[in-house]
Amino acid sequence: MVEQDRIISAIEDATYASSIHNSQPWRFTVLGDAVAVSLDPDATPRTVDPSGRWALASIGAVLATLEIALVARTGLATSTELRVGDAPSDGELAGGQAYGGRPLAIVQVGDDAAPAAVKAQAERLAPTVRERFTTRAPLTGGAPTQAEWAALSAAAGASELVTGTPAPEPLVRTLLALTAEAEVARQDDPDYLEEIERWVDNESHTGIPSAAIGLPDAEGKIPLRDFTQTPMGSAASGEATFFEDPAALLVLTSASDAPVDQLLGGYAMQRVMLEATALGLGIGVLGQALEEPDSREKVDAAVSEALASPEPVVVHQVLRLGHPAGELAHVRTPRRPVKDVILG
Ligand SMILES: Cc1cc2nc3c(=O)[nH]c(=O)nc-3n(C[C@H](O)[C@H](O)[C@H](O)COP(=O)(O)O)c2cc1C
Repeated sequence: MVEQDRIISAIEDATYASSIHNSQPWRFTVLGDAVAVSLDPDATPRTVDPSGRWALASIGAVLATLEIALVARTGLATSTELRVGDAPSDGELAGGQAYGGRPLAIVQVGDDAAPAAVKAQAERLAPTVRERFTTRAPLTGGAPTQAEWAALSAAAGASELVTGTPAPEPLVRTLLALTAEAEVARQDDPDYLEEIERWVDNESHTGIPSAAIGLPDAEGKIPLRDFTQTPMGSAASGEATFFEDPAALLVLTSASDAPVDQLLGGYAMQRVMLEATALGLGIGVLGQALEEPDSREKVDAAVSEALASPEPVVVHQVLRLGHPAGELAHVRTPRRPVKDVILG
């Protein structure tokens, strides 16, 4: 039997994962040597996530950190059972409501020592679990090298379902244009803007501090999600900064869009983020064009064509990567105390 303290500490580590708007919608149930991970659908934003894909991706992200933390803290092998199932035929999908109230994954800590390679990998990545953060600052110190791209793609592959591919430059331009189009459309939606406002500086151990939002691209080439627009007008300071050009993007794809693909899209994203942190790379998220069906279709078509995939692919995330020119100053996003996310 594993000491419960170690399991609780691993859960606490895991909560440093990324999540949509830092909603931290994960809940954990400790079942002896196993941990069940479920989604609290009342904790997720809904307007930004009409199909529930970001809620599932957030669960996938925490699953990736939980596995690493459990191996690093116990030295034992773990096995994960995914229980996400098929897309619910009834129930509201926005914010993942239809996925709530049942375990989506169970991670079992076994009796045997973890295989040497798994243990070494967990020990290498464990420090990055708390160091990692989402970068919204310029990454003007150079794109990832060939060897770094290979390591990032391998990290995505740890999901066993989702592939990470660096976007060739023409595709980068297309993806940035589609993201900008989606971002502009979002700014016309008062519900979306009100929701964003509720997740900035919300002082409840969740959400994004305004100091972590960063400044917009002065040349308008990289359409970061704008967290400064409110239904009452812009809360931006008027300042802007110069970003890298061209951006270096990694696209995460799989063959289908089942709930398990969406969850493992988040798992792959988190693994790439941890690897990027280990490599000293900054990493940002440009997912806006994947939120509404029309723009998602355009992204899937553009990526399938550019990558010359024999079968069409489904895009689960677009990540911006690169070296910062100097050390990145960053204000950390808060986390809920671990006792608040453990059920029972
Ligand atoms: C599914 C998903 C989608 C996200 N989309 C965006 C995005 O479009 N723009 C952005 O700046 N950050 C995005 N993020 C990053 C979250 O805002 C970030 O993980 C959260 O605020 C916690 O902060 P941290 O990553 O710095 O720990 C996304 C994260 C997840 C898991």
